[in-house]
Formats: sequence, structure tokens, C-alpha cells
Amino acid sequence: MTSLDHFFDDRLLAREQEDRLRKLSVQENLIDFCSNDYLGLARSQELAQAISQKTGTIQPLRNGASGSRLLSGNNSYTEEVESKLAQIFKSEAALIFNSGYAANQAILSSVPQRGDTIFYDELAHACIKDGARLSMASRFSFHHNDLNDLERKIKKAKGKIFIAVESIYSMDGDQCPLAGLVTLSKKYNAFIILDEAHSTGVFGDEGNGLAVSGNFHEEIAMRIYTFGKAMGVHGACVAGSKKLINYLINFARPFIYTTALPLHAIVSIDCAFEFLKNHPGFQKEL
Ligand SMILES: Cc1ncc(COP(=O)(O)O)c(C=O)c1O
Repeated sequence: MTSLDHFFDDRLLAREQEDRLRKLSVQENLIDFCSNDYLGLARSQELAQAISQKTGTIQPLRNGASGSRLLSGNNSYTEEVESKLAQIFKSEAALIFNSGYAANQAILSSVPQRGDTIFYDELAHACIKDGARLSMASRFSFHHNDLNDLERKIKKAKGKIFIAVESIYSMDGDQCPLAGLVTLSKKYNAFIILDEAHSTGVFGDEGNGLAVSGNFHEEIAMRIYTFGKAMGVHGACVAGSKKLINYLINFARPFIYTTALPLHAIVSIDCAFEFLKNHPGFQKEL
């Protein structure tokens, strides 16, 4: 056994003794109260068929994207889907990312600069925290959904101020106080980064999330929507101004230095939104 094996053993044993050991398991034939497949789209045969049919019609056929969007991985269909997403999310532009993790990391690591300050909800997802950690900006958490704590901290902030929150927090299903956050952001000229991972598909017309359904979208600088949860497929997008999208294309390393999503994944995103539009009853049922 190497010293690394001993290290792994010790850490895993400690986890087991705390009764916190993680294990992969295959779960079939159960009622689903734990996955993110809120609308059942991940297992919809009808959606699967629509995706297969449409994939066959897109030219040129490519199994893999073959490179970064900035090299060989871009195509007019992906840009068409991004235009549709911008329409759905009522933004000037949208940019697809390979995952919600990558999208959050991209924004937080590239937009706030040295001398700026990021505030994030203490219960924010790991990718928000990891993105903030990659940034040169100062970063502070605030108590969950606590606008008084946030304001107390904002008063001491330097540089541009960014507030990173989720619309719906996945562990307890509670909402962020979006109206209060918008008021605070205006008072202190702060920029809100809103992760709509758990509200995409669930809230609003065509699943366009909490900000658009509450008519707050124009007050929020950067929005992240993910497609691997209620939309039942995979990937994510950032919605915002054309300038923001152009900036991310130029400076966001999780966009620049990775192979783009394959055609099948882009078709899946397109079809999932089409599917939801044609089945508005799914949201009501949820
Ligand atoms: C709030 C939040 N943001 C982002 C992500 C990451 O999204 P993805 O699974 O598409 O990488 C998750 C997924 O767990 C999430 O819960």
C-alpha cells in the first residue's frame, strides 16, 4: 500500500464511522422524491422521440462538437437555439454552457475583478462558491436569505459589488427574497447574479424561471438557467446583455477551454423547451 492508499483509507473510514459514507446506487421502480427531474421530462418517451427525430434533421451531422465553440465546435443551429433561449428568458442574448456548474464558475471567476467584492448566500451551491474562489475579488458569505446581514456587510464593501444567490434553494426548496435583493442592489449599485437552476422549467411561461415570472429580469445583471433538472436534459445558459455574453466568450475560461456540447445535447435543449411549451399542464401538476 502506498502512502496515498493509507490516506484514502483513513479518510473513507472516518466518513464511515460518522455514518456519512457516500455510495453510488442504482434505483429503479421507486417513486421519485429525490431527483431533480421535477416534471418527469428526463424519463419522457415522447420527449426522447422528439429529440431523436429532430437530431436526424440537423445538418451537418456531428456526433461530437469536435472542439471548443471558439475553434471547430460552433454551428448555426447552436446559435439559433441560443436566440430561442434569449427569447424565452427575455434577455438580449444567451450563451450555452456545458453545465450549470461551468456557467456559474464562468461568471464568478471572470466578471468580478481584484478590488471588487462578491457576496454569496451561505447556502449557495458549490459552483458559486468555487467560482468566487477562482476570482481575484474579495468574497464573503451572508446568512441565508438575510437581507439585514447582507446590507450590513455591503456597507463595508469595496469596488464593484456582486450578490450571488439562487432563486430556489435545492435543499429546502425555499425562495430567495428577490424583490428585497433588487431593492438592495439598486441602493448600493450592486449587480445580482441569479442562479435559476431549480426554477428553470418549474416557474413561468415556457419554464422561464422566477425572475422573468416576477418581472425582475431587467434588474438582474446575470442569470444562469440549467437544463439538467426540470428540463430533463443537460447543459445550461447564461442570459443577459449582449455585452455580457461577448465578455464571457472572451474571458470565461470554462467557456473557452472546453469541448462544446454535442449536437444531440443542443437538440435536447431545443426539444425540451418546445415540449414544455406544448405541455403547460406539467407545471400545474407539479
Ligand atoms: C443551484 C445549483 N446551481 C448549479 C448547479 C449545477 O448545475 P449542473 O448540474 O448543470 O452542472 C446545481 C446542480 O446541482 C445547483 O443545484
